[in-house]
Amino acid sequence: MGGFVDRRAAFSYLTAMAIRDILILPDPALRKVAKPLADIDDGVRALMDDMLETMYAAPGIGLAAPQIGIDKRLIVLDVSKTEEEDEKEPMVFVNPDIVWTSDETALYEEGCLSIPDYYEEVERPAACRVRYLDRGGDEREIDCESLLATCIQHEIDHLNGVLFIDHLSKLKRDRITKKFTKARKRAAA
Ligand code: NI
Repeated sequence: MGGFVDRRAAFSYLTAMAIRDILILPDPALRKVAKPLADIDDGVRALMDDMLETMYAAPGIGLAAPQIGIDKRLIVLDVSKTEEEDEKEPMVFVNPDIVWTSDETALYEEGCLSIPDYYEEVERPAACRVRYLDRGGDEREIDCESLLATCIQHEIDHLNGVLFIDHLSKLKRDRITKKFTKARKRAAA
């Protein structure tokens, strides 16, 4: 038994996953409203794996498809914040919709892989309920609170072309957008 190898699993592990490039502010693709996924096939599942790999490599705790230039309503999360492979809790949400939010709000310091090295406190509903399709295409609902609630709202914002800086004052938003726009021009020059 010791010599048994699941070749299909090994094959998919070795070939399927790839780290994608993350788009950075002010890339216009970050401002588009993403389209719902009609069905979840092997191509979509491979994309989920790439997104998780990209998120873990960054490292980050959430990633939305538009951040890698994919115009689809798909997000991945892992709020377990562990380095241990067997303790990771990857989560995948297709076509997620917020169906309820609490009146109570919470303040979290947020960051974004598309706005590197910038962190600000954002106020959002402290809890929410999200309806989505899972990896197998089944409809599910999840009740979220604390870090998961904040993170899932942040990622669903990405699907609507909204960034966490849009929740800050106009002054702060303009300042950080200007800084990244200058950096992009410098890099292109
Ligand atoms: Ni983000």
